[in-house]
Amino acid sequence: MSKQIWKPGNMLYPLPAVMVSTADPDGNDNIITIAWTGTVCTNPPMTYISVRPGRHSYHMIKESGEFVINLTTERLMRAADFCGVRSGRDTDKWKQCGLTRKAAASLKYAPVIEESPVNIECQVVKIEELGSHHMFLARVTAVQTDETYMDEKGKFELNRSGLVAYSHGEYLALGKKLGTFGCSVKKKTTSGRSGVRKDKTGVAGKSGKRIQKKRMKGQDTGKR
Ligand SMILES: Cc1cc2nc3c(=O)[nH]c(=O)nc-3n(C[C@H](O)[C@H](O)[C@H](O)COP(=O)(O)O)c2cc1C
Repeated sequence: MSKQIWKPGNMLYPLPAVMVSTADPDGNDNIITIAWTGTVCTNPPMTYISVRPGRHSYHMIKESGEFVINLTTERLMRAADFCGVRSGRDTDKWKQCGLTRKAAASLKYAPVIEESPVNIECQVVKIEELGSHHMFLARVTAVQTDETYMDEKGKFELNRSGLVAYSHGEYLALGKKLGTFGCSVKKKTTSGRSGVRKDKTGVAGKSGKRIQKKRMKGQDTGKR
């Protein structure tokens, strides 16, 4: 395989392109689209967003110490793009995109976007001035989830919501399911003697989980 060597740059894809809602203590609010985001710790639950100081949203996040990460779906893709190419300095993005403000459960200033299936409420714990972007390291203080995607057993079926990925300048719908966490080490049997029930794709289903957990002792069980 022949490879080109490029100068250093960011090529980590796919990423989520989330809509971050925020507000300053004077009650001005805004939405900014962010791809430089991720999970950094399970317990305590922590995340980050990296924002250029020139963005209109920057001072809101800095002054209030709050923001909400709103996940983006196929239905919200155009709104997410719009919030990433227009500034709140001269546009009311809520109005232009037909988005609705809803009170956060744990924050004082930043509202959540009602139309998003998952709203991750965050409180800034540290600002790291890295260079072009300043990283807001934050603690997750509450998560709101759309009940539409709860199944009858109370399991949140997030992947039914039509989540969108951002890769190298393009928005992409997620494709078919290829497996589930830990599928590479799960025993493949057809007799059912292993006690693990499989779905149509040959992947161990929910009902097989309890038995499988025992077998996977010492391995990564998905708790991160
Ligand atoms: C897909 C996408 C991802 C983006 N990711 C970031 C990002 O991670 N950090 C950032 O500062 N700007 C990012 N931007 C640019 C801002 O969203 C854009 O400059 C926006 O207009 C700023 O809004 P504001 O001035 O109202 O705060 C992104 C834009 C798009 C379309």
